[in-house]
Amino acid sequence: MGITRRRFVAGLAWSPLLTAFSAWSAAPMVMGFAQVGAESEWRTANTKSIKDSAKKEGITLKFADAQQRQENQVKAIRTFIAQKVDVIAFSPVVESGWETVLREAKAAKIPVIITDRAVRVSDPSLFAAFIGSDFVEEGRRAGNWLLERAKKTPNATINVVELQGTVGSAPAIDRKAGFEQVIATNPKVKIIRSQTANFTRAKGKEVMEAFLKSEGKNINVLFAHNDDMALGAIQAIEEAGFKPGVDILVISIDGIRAAFEAMVAGKINVTVECNPLLGPQLFQVARDVIAGKPVTRRITISESVYPAETASKELPNRKYY
Ligand code: AHR
Repeated sequence: MGITRRRFVAGLAWSPLLTAFSAWSAAPMVMGFAQVGAESEWRTANTKSIKDSAKKEGITLKFADAQQRQENQVKAIRTFIAQKVDVIAFSPVVESGWETVLREAKAAKIPVIITDRAVRVSDPSLFAAFIGSDFVEEGRRAGNWLLERAKKTPNATINVVELQGTVGSAPAIDRKAGFEQVIATNPKVKIIRSQTANFTRAKGKEVMEAFLKSEGKNINVLFAHNDDMALGAIQAIEEAGFKPGVDILVISIDGIRAAFEAMVAGKINVTVECNPLLGPQLFQVARDVIAGKPVTRRITISESVYPAETASKELPNRKYY
């Protein structure tokens, strides 16, 4: 019922029909949102932020959970197009493979807003705006924390194991790139094992178990692309008889409450913040796009780094579960 209705009503000069159509045109904005899944506490907080904001703004939200599968997201977007929603938003599971469905949305004159994870497309007009974090910078911040820490032991080799996020996703690609860019400046710091654990706690534990089995005492540092994988890995580290945060330093990304609790317990050394509370900005941008106002094409969220020393003070302020 979306943009066609809005354009039609906006194009009416005064007429008796206008009164009849005004109630129709005052219907709330309809947004179709295709979410990645429910793989992490970050994602749970992101979904809640979007649903709560929609409710607060009186927006009708059609919500689809893609269960971490691109084909489910494509299917959901096609359904939203068929339903003629006013605007489509989604957080893409992976970066590439979106051209066809985005062209279909464009042909149907339904604007698309990308949130959280970026897409790689050759035609920038296929979406109206992107709202999310700078994942490369998050990786750099994680690397910078490690290089600072490495100054305490200038002659020691530092062996890092890395738990990557979902293969092909923007946060996995960019966080890896940012971290590697920074650690490349210190030849003593080396990534000895790197594998995906799909951003989940269960996989984080499983992959860390395999790292510990093959590398054991060689591991000095864990770099996890999100807190959930770090928390799963911590379990594996403890079960293997090591102390997380002491025998193996733990560097993570997101800043969920559970990570702050783990920092207070001395089990995570630092978490780089990634803010999931994107709902209010998403609906503001959606309103502007629908109203035909100019919007900033890339809206980047400003974020912090929380080393363990800051955790007890910051814990009461944490909002992500
Ligand atoms: O895209 C953001 C990432 O996806 C978060 O770091 C992670 O927790 C989530 O699953």
